[in-house]
Amino acid sequence: MRKIKILSTILIVLTLGGQAMAQKLVIAHRGASGYLPEHTLEAKAMAYAMGADYIEQDVVMTKDDQLIVLHDITLDRTTNVDLLYPERVRDDGRFYAIDFTLAEIKQLSASEGFRIVDGLKEQSYSTRFPMGTSSFRVPTLQEEIELIQGLNKSTGRNVGIYPEIKSPEFHREAGKDLSTAVVNVLKEYGYTSKQDKVFLQTFSFDELKILYEEILPAAAIELKLVMLLGDDGEYPWIFEEDGMEKLSVMADGVGPSHTLVVAKESSKGNIIVTELVASAHAVGMQVHPYTYRKDKGQVPLYANDYNDLLDIHFFNANIDGVFTDFPDLAVEFLKSE
Ligand code: G3P
Ligand code: CA
Repeated sequence: MRKIKILSTILIVLTLGGQAMAQKLVIAHRGASGYLPEHTLEAKAMAYAMGADYIEQDVVMTKDDQLIVLHDITLDRTTNVDLLYPERVRDDGRFYAIDFTLAEIKQLSASEGFRIVDGLKEQSYSTRFPMGTSSFRVPTLQEEIELIQGLNKSTGRNVGIYPEIKSPEFHREAGKDLSTAVVNVLKEYGYTSKQDKVFLQTFSFDELKILYEEILPAAAIELKLVMLLGDDGEYPWIFEEDGMEKLSVMADGVGPSHTLVVAKESSKGNIIVTELVASAHAVGMQVHPYTYRKDKGQVPLYANDYNDLLDIHFFNANIDGVFTDFPDLAVEFLKSE
């Protein structure tokens, strides 16, 4: 069985889509976020040391047009902004990063994510790093790239980056061109071609189009683009017969929710692999689904455990990479295959 798997992997690598496809990748989702607070430099360094191939950055913009690495456009799920700047809350009860300067954001303590339950902060993943302990900060995109490039120099490895343009329409409505700012930073740090170790991702097809048609040509660079797909059916045309082909004009890969790759209705003994991976591969696009977690309740019932989940997705569904909060486990899993 193992030999068949190895042989089929080699064949896929050699022949898929008539072109060489990359090795299977481990993308550290918000860093080693299963172990340290998401999107902190500490979580990124840990992911690097764990052997991730790529490390993810969600990027949003501050009031003074600086780029910070933060998943939400708001600061209140992962920092103590409510305690330091209580008067800066908007009418909806949220604290928006775009309302704060970088200097102000640098005063905040970053923390394991939490939600409010009965007026109290409750850690979202109870078995992860203790909320509100130790000392973490919100990094800039530049600080994070310098960390990864610095480690690439000191270790001799070549770990990639995987930035996401977060809520581009929200930024544009506020008069901020987040994509152009990110592309300019990537260019400044030497990411200028599709051979460089960067994937630039977005959930917005409109923004993907602007990146492909306007922003990258204006910067005179080419980067690999990834279209993220939620399980909300926002872009039904992508799932029509020629949808992936149309998308592949602009995108080098897709990053779907893993529920779009193996259906939620699957059960042990009846794994339902969708057409998505085959359709994307047929037009030369890689598939990097999100998000693989081993926390209680996060492994779908059709899988025995986290490793079994990876096995089903990597080898039954034939995906090319995973976004995971537990990069060490995915690295070990792929090594063992
Ligand atoms: O970008 C891939 C994955 O990170 C998408 O989910 O919400 O964690 O950014 P999210
Ligand atoms: Ca992301």
